[in-house]
Amino acid sequence: MKRVDIFARSRSHGIVCLHEGARAFQSLPQERYTGIMTQPAMLAALAHSSDTSYVFRGRFVRKRLLCQEIGTPPANAMAEFANLMKPANPTAREVATVVEAQPACGGCHNLIDPGGLAFEHFDAMGAYRDQYATGKAIDTKGSLAAVTVTGSRGGRAVPGGTLSAGCEFLRPYRISTDV
Ligand code: HEC
Repeated sequence: MKRVDIFARSRSHGIVCLHEGARAFQSLPQERYTGIMTQPAMLAALAHSSDTSYVFRGRFVRKRLLCQEIGTPPANAMAEFANLMKPANPTAREVATVVEAQPACGGCHNLIDPGGLAFEHFDAMGAYRDQYATGKAIDTKGSLAAVTVTGSRGGRAVPGGTLSAGCEFLRPYRISTDV
């Protein structure tokens, strides 16, 4: 079991009725919660208030963990998104598939989305779920394309390319290893 820090006023991790701003520690299964991305606070911070955002989570993976620039979305992206045909009660995967198929969108979203879809088993509060409330299955499969590795230090892969601004996690590592 992994002991995680939960900021909560929520029942989502079996914690009932904490004061606002209170903190609690809860043991969660280590095979599901491991590393920084599955910290409930992290999953919740990279989500909308009541729904996940595979884009926010995927953007974090791409920019902050892999240190790659992905640019800013075009100003008309949300208007274009509203006009796209989507299935009823779409899953994150179904939405991503529609967006990625658009020539104006796929260049970025093929890079962003897989890293976020991988965490779809965790809802907007970071609680684990087996399926969506609609009964639809969760599909987390995918691959992180265009990750260049220039070498390894101490058995750890070293990413290549230009570091994105704000790459807090890997920058100290890269500086300390003079990569
Ligand atoms: C240059 C890269 C880029 C392109 C091109 C792009 N996007 Fe995005 N998109 C992003 C990023 C990055 C975000 C995350 C929000 C932000 O950084 O502003 C985002 C966010 C979104 C969101 C909001 C996701 C959420 O959970 O709130 C939607 C929907 C979206 N894009 C759809 C589209 C569509 C549709 C197109 C094509 C018309 C498109 N995007 C083109 C990079 C891109």
